[in-house]
Order: sequence, then structure tokens, then C-alpha cells
Amino acid sequence: MTRRKLVAGNWKMNGDRAALAELDGIAAAAAAHPAIDVAIALPATLIAAGAERVPALAIGAQDVHAADKGAFTGCISANMAKEAGARFSIVGHSERRADQKESDVLVKAKAEALHRAGMQAIVCVGETLEQRDAGEAERVVTQQLEGSLPDGAAADWCAIAYEPVWAIGTGRTPTIEDVAAMHGAIRAKLRDLVGEGGDAIRLLYGGSVTAENAPALLHASDVDGALVGGASLTAAKFVPIVAAAAGN
Ligand code: 13P
Repeated sequence: MTRRKLVAGNWKMNGDRAALAELDGIAAAAAAHPAIDVAIALPATLIAAGAERVPALAIGAQDVHAADKGAFTGCISANMAKEAGARFSIVGHSERRADQKESDVLVKAKAEALHRAGMQAIVCVGETLEQRDAGEAERVVTQQLEGSLPDGAAADWCAIAYEPVWAIGTGRTPTIEDVAAMHGAIRAKLRDLVGEGGDAIRLLYGGSVTAENAPALLHASDVDGALVGGASLTAAKFVPIVAAAAGN
């Protein structure tokens, strides 16, 4: 089965209005490579300005609340993000799982909230170094997937990002064989959980993706794209990753 590649950037808590100028080059690269999808998850405060600046580029959020509205001070709902211009959101990033103590159940509810709002979800999973060293990586990740996968997950609105916690922002990446093995395990679990439709769901790799390692990572077996942190902050670093995904 061929799946369209998706290269998504995650700016995390970085950037300001001036930094949105980087989106111009990213949008140009997206337009130059129509066979793949390109997306950028911005800080909530920049979504509206980013979406207005580059209307053709898929702008998204980094998190949304699981509820549609209510007394949740400081949070934003999927519909609020959508009205601002977000087409998708990341949910269950390991930084939120660790810092905000987000559980699989909550991550699943957030992904379902995105679907209700007519948005796309990128659901993140990934093991810690301790878990990998203990030989628990596949068990941990497939369990996270089982707990976090939204009901009715389908390729047209849901993607999975495998982000080993120890590879995020560290400059360390798993071997291509390890990435392929984990993506194979995630694919098998998706088939168990959603049946044949699981074959169409895109699996992104994330964690220290750069222009240098992207060609190998992006063409590993069962890797359908990348979720990129630091190297998504400038067009100069991100555009070569987009080109690598497009195969040139
Ligand atoms: P880095 O690419 O900076 O390692 O971040 C990966 C990540 O967490 C993307 O969501």
C-alpha cells in the first residue's frame, strides 16, 4: 500500500510573529512538492497569523482540550483552534505526557475531540531510554497506542507519530533497523485494533530528524513521514527534509 508522506513541523514553545516569515519558504517547498503533505504545528498564539500568512500550508495546534467547551481556564478547544485556522493538532506529545501528566485515556479523548471538530490528529507515542534499555520499548509503545488510539481512527483524519523520548532534542536517533522494527510493530498493532483500515494510517518518525538523517529515516520500511522539532524552526533546515520525503 502506498501512503502519501507527511512531514510535520512542531515549533513547541518557540517563535514569534517575526518568525512566521519562515513559513513563506516552507509553504513554497510544500507547493513545489505536491505529492507529499507538509504541515506546521504552531504555538496557539501564532495560529491565526500563520494561517492568514500562508493559507495553502496546513497549520495546526500542538494540543487541544478533550472537551468541546467549559470551565477549563487557560485551555483551548479543538473548535477554537479550528476557528483560528488550525487544520490539525498534535496530541499526546511526550513533553505533555511527562510535564502535564497526560494519560493514554486523555490523549484518546483529545484525538476524538479533534475528529468531532472535523480536524486531523497526530497521536504521539514513544518509549523512554530506561524502557528501551530494559527491552520494553515495543511493549510500551504498542500499549500506549492501544490506550491512545481514538475510536474510529482512520487514515483521513488520524496519523501516529513514533517519537522515542530519548531521541527528542538530543541529536541521537535510533538505527534505521530499530525504527523499521518499531514501525512494523505499530503497523501490526494498528491492524489488530482497526482492521485493514490500519494499513492506510500514516506512521511518522520523530526525534532529532535533520536534513542529514532524513533521507534514510524517511525511506525506512513503514515510515510515512516525520514529526520535526528543532529543524522545523527555519525554512533553511526544514525544506531539505521536505525534499527528502519527496525523494529528491
Ligand atoms: P526534535 O526534532 O527537536 O528532536 O523534536 C522532535 C519532536 O519532539 C517533534 O514533536
